[in-house]
Amino acid sequence: MFHVFPCIALMCGLFPLTRGFSCTESQQAEGLSLDSSHRHLTSLPDTPSEKVTKFDVTYNDLSKLPEDTLSSWFPALQQLDASHNAITAIDDRTFQGLSELHDLDLSYNQLQVMHNGTLSDLSSSLRTLSLSHNRLQQLDDTAFRGLATLTSLSLDNNNLTSLTASTFSGLVSLRYLDLSYNALTSILNNTFADLVSLRSLRLDHNQMEHLEPAALAGLKQLVDIHLNDNRLEFFHWSLPAGVFADLQSVERFELKFNSRSNTGGYPEGVFGDLVAVRYLALDSFVDMDFGPEFARLSHIETLDVADSCKVNTLRNSSLLGFKNSSLQSLQLTSCHSLLFMETCAFCDLPHLKNLYLTHSDALHTGEAFRALYGLQGQSLDEINFRAVGRLLPELHIIDSNMTKYIHNVCVRTFIMSHAHIQRVIHNAMFHTADSQLSRCIQHVDLSENNLNGDLGVFINIFVHTKTLISLQLQEQHVYSLKGSACVLSVAPECGNRGSSTPPSWPETFHLPFPPSLHFLNLSAMFTFFNSMPPRVDAPSALGLKTLDLSFGFTSHCMTTFTGFQHLETFDFSGNYCNNISDNIFDHLLSLRHLSLSSAHLNPADIRTRAHRLLQHVDRLETLDLSWNWLVEIQGHSLPAQSRLQRLLLSHNSFQSLPVDVGLHPNLTDLDLSFNSVPSLTSVERDSLDELASRHLFRLNLRGNPMLCACSNLNFLRWMWDTHVILDGDGSSGRR
Ligand SMILES: *[C@@H]1O[C@H](CO)[C@@H](O)[C@H](O)[C@H]1NC(C)=O
Ligand SMILES: *[C@@H]1O[C@H](CO)[C@@H](O)[C@H](O)[C@H]1NC(C)=O
Ligand SMILES: *[C@@H]1O[C@H](CO)[C@@H](O)[C@H](O)[C@H]1NC(C)=O
Ligand SMILES: *[C@@H]1O[C@H](CO)[C@@H](O)[C@H](O)[C@H]1NC(C)=O
Ligand SMILES: *[C@@H]1O[C@H](CO)[C@@H](O)[C@H](O)[C@H]1NC(C)=O
Ligand SMILES: *[C@@H]1O[C@H](CO)[C@@H](O)[C@H](O)[C@H]1NC(C)=O
Ligand SMILES: *[C@@H]1O[C@H](CO)[C@@H](O)[C@H](O)[C@H]1NC(C)=O
Ligand SMILES: *[C@@H]1O[C@H](CO)[C@@H](O)[C@H](O)[C@H]1NC(C)=O
Ligand SMILES: *[C@@H]1O[C@H](CO)[C@@H](O)[C@H](O)[C@H]1NC(C)=O
Repeated sequence: MFHVFPCIALMCGLFPLTRGFSCTESQQAEGLSLDSSHRHLTSLPDTPSEKVTKFDVTYNDLSKLPEDTLSSWFPALQQLDASHNAITAIDDRTFQGLSELHDLDLSYNQLQVMHNGTLSDLSSSLRTLSLSHNRLQQLDDTAFRGLATLTSLSLDNNNLTSLTASTFSGLVSLRYLDLSYNALTSILNNTFADLVSLRSLRLDHNQMEHLEPAALAGLKQLVDIHLNDNRLEFFHWSLPAGVFADLQSVERFELKFNSRSNTGGYPEGVFGDLVAVRYLALDSFVDMDFGPEFARLSHIETLDVADSCKVNTLRNSSLLGFKNSSLQSLQLTSCHSLLFMETCAFCDLPHLKNLYLTHSDALHTGEAFRALYGLQGQSLDEINFRAVGRLLPELHIIDSNMTKYIHNVCVRTFIMSHAHIQRVIHNAMFHTADSQLSRCIQHVDLSENNLNGDLGVFINIFVHTKTLISLQLQEQHVYSLKGSACVLSVAPECGNRGSSTPPSWPETFHLPFPPSLHFLNLSAMFTFFNSMPPRVDAPSALGLKTLDLSFGFTSHCMTTFTGFQHLETFDFSGNYCNNISDNIFDHLLSLRHLSLSSAHLNPADIRTRAHRLLQHVDRLETLDLSWNWLVEIQGHSLPAQSRLQRLLLSHNSFQSLPVDVGLHPNLTDLDLSFNSVPSLTSVERDSLDELASRHLFRLNLRGNPMLCACSNLNFLRWMWDTHVILDGDGSSGRR
């Protein structure tokens, strides 16, 4: 224990040198740019230069800027960034003579007022001005007077309570104005009337209850407006008819999280003026009713009522205004009170590509499927039912009665994860090979449900699909283990719950894979609980590149996998492979990435049998054997793995380098963290040096008893200036 102390001292002394901490001045005049940031300055450094065009004085303790020195010091200044200081006021003469200043950033200070003269000297040069994150409560009526070249003005995160019709007068070049996160309660007539170039206006996160009828008059070029998180109610006192009449160019309109009322509708003569809108985000009410007026929005692509959704019933007529429109994406997520959908809710939406009903957690699964009636014969990119029905007490069974409307929809991605599903009855989803669905589907995600049954059955569900590329069935939460023997396809009612007989496997278990399947995640499906069959054969898995069978609670690994001819990534971690068969991987000849992390490997066994186990997988580039308490690999080599690039051995009990790195010339990562390596021999160090001289190489030795090597100064020195990671941040040394 004693000799640990000098060693720690040594570490502290040496670390800064190798970690790249530099003690050089951070202030450097690099040509035309002067950086005086992060220096605890309370006044500007006296460093005049005629050449400086950019001056960064951020993150200091300035409480004011000098009154009239800036222009004599930096007459050519174009960009001044004084953000993150403590500036409380700015004198009228501060910017005098800075006729080139384009960009001025005063954000994150403590300004309370902007006087009318402060910026007047910048009227012919200033392009961007940020005053965000200050304490402005009032803007002088003429604070921005004359800034005819200004294109961007940020006033967000202040404490502004009102604006007048003069505040922004004359800002004819302004394209971007941010007033979000203030305390504005209303907008008066013609406040923005001079902003003829404005493209983007942010007024979200204020306390507006009311817009005057001509509040947004003149904004004819506006493309983007954000009014979320105010207190505008959806009736004419808050939103007078015609209030958006000038917003003929707006493509993105957001007005969510405003109305606090559950009931209500869309006031007439208001939203119909948004004739160019593509993205429309609005609050919704118990009875959703987008009336005929919305038919004027002939460019609509996305209707977003996500998260602020209060809909209880979706009627045939709820989307009337969008029927036969160009609507492509319908975002009805987090409609926590949605209970009913009439059959024709989604009828006449011929261009719909994405339907998101996620987190409609009180909606019965059957209701969601039934609503697809309106989409018969159409082609969609994604239907997302994640967490639909999640809060209903019973688990759901997907049967063919429920799914009959999806069969005639061509959808590429179908997601119904985390939705409390217990069973998918055989053929319910892909009942025939030539249903529209079977011919289109590419990605299915049914993860995080409560599916039980045996693996073969799950795969069978999808065997008719000729186009399926990825299938996610991971993380099934099964409350009762008793159903594990229940073969769903044979007995949908699964009458033998309660049976304690484990499934009995045939000698060879055939898995019929859709040939196009690339990716299959079966992690933490509990289907294999007792053991796996002696041989798992998947001759048709020709496309399968990634298979995740981790955490399957396999009680031993006496299996051989055959047929998976093109499998490249195989995750078998987290299983119980204390007993592992010699030939388990013998036929996985294309394997490049193999994980046996936390696989309960038997250390004595692996010591002698690692060679044999991996004998045929000679294309491995990544091998993960972490968390197994391994102690040694006999002969210090994995002779077949000459292509190895990453060898992950953390959390084992190795006491020296377990392999001769010279035999793995392409190794770039050797993770030996949390092992028992006390030191490295000079031979080992030489071979590591040899590797590192050829390419970037990282050795992680965190959490090893290295400190005991204090007596070996050469070794310590070698560690500091080579490629070894010892501390917590995972940073690497480089040659
Ligand atoms: C600036 O404000 C002061 C007082 O608030 C006022 O006397 C002066 O006329 C204003 N100047 C301009 C140009 O509006
Ligand atoms: C904003 O102003 C109000 C009242 O004028 C004050 O109570 C509040 O503290 C101010 N907030 C900030 C962040 O300055
Ligand atoms: C705002 O303008 C509208 C007409 O566009 C007018 O009816 C209303 O009275 C004006 N409001 C105020 C406060 O001047
Ligand atoms: C949409 O168009 C179809 C076909 O033109 C028509 O039959 C249907 O009535 C239209 N729906 C609505 C609500 O206008
Ligand atoms: C909704 O539309 C479907 C299909 O056209 C129809 O059968 C049903 O009666 C309609 N529901 C109501 C309440 O009108
Ligand atoms: C299908 O569902 C309907 C309504 O939910 C029900 O009346 C009918 O009996 C079901 N048919 C089958 C075969 O389950
Ligand atoms: C499979 O799913 C698990 C659980 O969500 C995830 O951790 C794992 O990364 C996935 N496997 C692959 C290969 O993506
Ligand atoms: C390992 O497998 C052999 C042969 O199948 C068996 O005799 C032995 O009991 C198994 N060991 C463990 C720990 O399961
Ligand atoms: C190491 O990598 C290089 C370049 O990626 C490759 O050409 C070479 O074949 C690899 N060596 C081995 C032994 O795989």
